[in-house]
Amino acid sequence: MTLVPGTVRPRRLRTTPALRRLVSETRLHPADLILPMFVKETLSEPAPLTSMPGVVQHTLDSLLEAANEAVDSGVGGLMLFGIPEHKDNEGSQADAPAGILNRALTLLRDNLGDTTVIMADLCLDEFTSHGHCGVLDSAGGVDNDATLERYASMAVAQARAGAHVVGLSGMMDGQVAACREALDLEGFTDVVVMAYSAKYASAFFGPFREAVDSELQGDRKSYQQDPANGREAMRELDLDLAEGADIVMVKPGMPYLDVLAEVACESPVPVWAYQVSGEYAMIEFAAATGAIERERAIEESLVAFKRAGADAILTYWATEVAQRLTSET
Ligand code: PBG
Repeated sequence: MTLVPGTVRPRRLRTTPALRRLVSETRLHPADLILPMFVKETLSEPAPLTSMPGVVQHTLDSLLEAANEAVDSGVGGLMLFGIPEHKDNEGSQADAPAGILNRALTLLRDNLGDTTVIMADLCLDEFTSHGHCGVLDSAGGVDNDATLERYASMAVAQARAGAHVVGLSGMMDGQVAACREALDLEGFTDVVVMAYSAKYASAFFGPFREAVDSELQGDRKSYQQDPANGREAMRELDLDLAEGADIVMVKPGMPYLDVLAEVACESPVPVWAYQVSGEYAMIEFAAATGAIERERAIEESLVAFKRAGADAILTYWATEVAQRLTSET
């Protein structure tokens, strides 16, 4: 077929807002958005984060208030991170029933019931004095299999505290199987395992370090993936599926949309993506200088995740965007 100049006009479908809306391939919905939240044991007032303008570390009271606001806005779920008063080598507050994260889970579950999906980060870095995602061996390396025992215990503690979903973000080999087995043994067969399958050793986690008062020296390159590797993500996906992951995740988001797209093509289970702290900070700080339009940039970034194949997105803007989406329709 020869293209007669002027007869094929893609611009035709862009002529009016109504037409553009009708032919839109991708839509954001409040239920696609999951709000990550930080709760810190020692606080008496919420503490704003300087590296994430607009995000705070919560007290239990302010957490509940913000959770209610998020649920009212229609977000799909909440992902909790806890910052304990006492950190130690083993991260003992992670699975202590009275640990801050577990108390927060119970508070939210008691108040919100099944009206939303309550999730917990399942990892040790917020709880360890050395800041690594696992326990250390005598040489100072992260001991994979000893860490699995801690994760299994955390999974049960979080389920007992009221989590609907446990979010395995530690990148230990075998973590999905270890947590699934422990949950099932304790009768928590309906607790969902969400696996951060492809998680990269990323500079974009920078502001999160402030958010969880991280003590980390060094890096996580011995357990998180090398940003140079795409194929390896598919291997991690296969393993997590074989171990029984109910949902898989790619993280960070924007620098890894190619990985997300490939995982979304292959995965038989829901695929989520995490728009991480550094991605949030980039847009907030760029908008604050006037370099970009804040709301447009936020929405464009979230639509990009959907276009790449994400079923849901963890984003610190979840409540704000859900409110905007609801008020627009
Ligand atoms: C690990 C965890 C991290 C994030 C979520 N879970 C930090 C890391 O792996 O270094 C980062 C989230 C963000 O940057 O917004 N518990």
